[in-house]
Amino acid sequence: MCGIFAYTGERNAGEILLDGLTSLEYRGYDSAGIYTPQSGSVKSVGAVSHLRRKMPPGFFGTSGIAHLRWATHGEPTEGNAHPHTDCTGDVWVVHNGIVENHKELRKRLEAAGHTFVSSTDTEVLTHLVEEHLTLLRQGSEGQEPENIFEKAAVAALKEVKGTYGIAIQYKHDPARIIGARMGAPVVLGLGEHENFIASDASPILRHTRQIVFLEDGEVAVITPEGHTITKIGGESVSRAAEQVDWNAEAAQRNGYDHFMLKEIMEEPDAVRNTSRGRIIDTDGLAKLGGLESVAEKLRGIRRVIIVACGTASYAAMAGEYMLEENARIPTEVDIGSEFRYRTPVIDEGTAVIAVSQSGETADTLEAVREGKRRGALTLGIVNTVGSTIARETDAGIYLHAGPEISVASTKAYVSQLTALALLTLFLGRQRGMSVARGKEIAQALRELPGKIEEVLKRSDEIRKVAKKYANTRDFLFMGRKYNLATAFEGALKLKETSYIHAEACGAGEMKHGHLAMIDEKFPTIALAPSDSVYEKNMSNIQEIRTRKGPVIAIATDGDDEIRSTVNDVLYIPETIEMLSPILSVVPLHLFAYHFAKQKGINVDRPRNLAKSVTVE
Ligand code: G6P
Repeated sequence: MCGIFAYTGERNAGEILLDGLTSLEYRGYDSAGIYTPQSGSVKSVGAVSHLRRKMPPGFFGTSGIAHLRWATHGEPTEGNAHPHTDCTGDVWVVHNGIVENHKELRKRLEAAGHTFVSSTDTEVLTHLVEEHLTLLRQGSEGQEPENIFEKAAVAALKEVKGTYGIAIQYKHDPARIIGARMGAPVVLGLGEHENFIASDASPILRHTRQIVFLEDGEVAVITPEGHTITKIGGESVSRAAEQVDWNAEAAQRNGYDHFMLKEIMEEPDAVRNTSRGRIIDTDGLAKLGGLESVAEKLRGIRRVIIVACGTASYAAMAGEYMLEENARIPTEVDIGSEFRYRTPVIDEGTAVIAVSQSGETADTLEAVREGKRRGALTLGIVNTVGSTIARETDAGIYLHAGPEISVASTKAYVSQLTALALLTLFLGRQRGMSVARGKEIAQALRELPGKIEEVLKRSDEIRKVAKKYANTRDFLFMGRKYNLATAFEGALKLKETSYIHAEACGAGEMKHGHLAMIDEKFPTIALAPSDSVYEKNMSNIQEIRTRKGPVIAIATDGDDEIRSTVNDVLYIPETIEMLSPILSVVPLHLFAYHFAKQKGINVDRPRNLAKSVTVE
């Protein structure tokens, strides 16, 4: 959701900033822009490649700020693209977030003679800094006050209500860049004679692994030779840099046409990395270091609420079934955006577990905070190390799935399911799950990556089926028990990458409405692995076939009989029922990818969407 990036050092800022923006592109691509005090600003609508084409020869600078926009206030036009500037053209701002009191501030500033040229909320920040520069100068009787830029920026930030991850630059102090964070992530990268500010570590890692995570309400100042952090206008903060190990190379496409395909192909590794070192086969236990500090508390938990958004919420749905059936803990799932507004009943016996790839999704984060306020133990199942949810929860499980760039989440989903399975094993064994059952789950978890590899080898077959249905405009996804979640995830993936209508329902719900839509042009993708609800699913499939609806089934290897009932079958290897969603989703991820690709859509960047949604 908008990406900011800033550099100050000795090298060519233009190149560094453009490259950095490319790795932030998953955050938004409505428009892009760059500013250096030496060469001024360049902006363009669309992706970074458009901006790159517009860069004039000789564009230079040894410091600068850059931005990628995912529009909230104001159309995605060049005029609304960041960086924004004040009336004098001296103050430049890139911003991720929303200035909630922008209307009143704008009114006041316009009345004081400021001219606005965009319809963004961000522009008020530039004029506010300008106003404070003027005020500080007025109070200093002709002498330029010391640190005037910093003072003006802090004074401006104090007036702002809302969220921001921000970088500000002042033309007359070009080596210094100010960063600040309130509700939107900001990290600093500490290099040799150069420093960085960004929305996350991805654009920085090719230059340095030394990362400092800012907290809400903190302001950082970077120069080529150092950095300082203070509370907004208050005491100074000392925080050590963390060594971040994500490999910038891993975030490249490695020869694949799209990140989405690369990340689907990484699903076996994602599951492997999530469970690495965490399965104790001999005792049928899960060892989760991130939960050790709260292990005793978890023993006393009487209820679990999992909060999440989008794909992560479907992983949570399967997690609910895992926890209830195997660990016997009452569990419910709440969408982050609902949880915080519905006055939930929570007490100290409740654990609120956030599932989030980015660890920054605003609705999920606020749900965690709501849980905390109401006295719950909070846990995070998060991919991004050091993200806000990871830091604000009491304890958690990192996914270790590696960076996920494609907007449509794939490998993070199978990792989230794996982490939830490990949690089920952990909590279940605390609560009387037998050693034998523990061992069975442990063994099945170990075998999963190899089985996902089996499914990936069938990619070509899946592509052929996707081709067969190329002109279809509507799909129904149907599942039951553990694979109800898979149905929702399959439908979401197809919607977001192909822009077609796809919906999901519980197989048992078909007869309560969905069946009315079915005819020979409306195919159903039916999740029908050989599990405890197989017979029920088969009855629902028969009901569809009787109405001439085509059916593509996801079935278990060896189920040859299903072929005679349905039109197409995509097979998956056998596993225990609880883990079946980790296998059954793989053909659906591939199906969505191939289906969208044949339409010529850039699957990595679905229109109107962003990878990390840090606004409500
Ligand atoms: C966005 C992304 C989805 C993702 C959701 C939750 O909508 O496009 O792919 O599932 O946010 O993101 P999170 O980072 O919290 O898992």
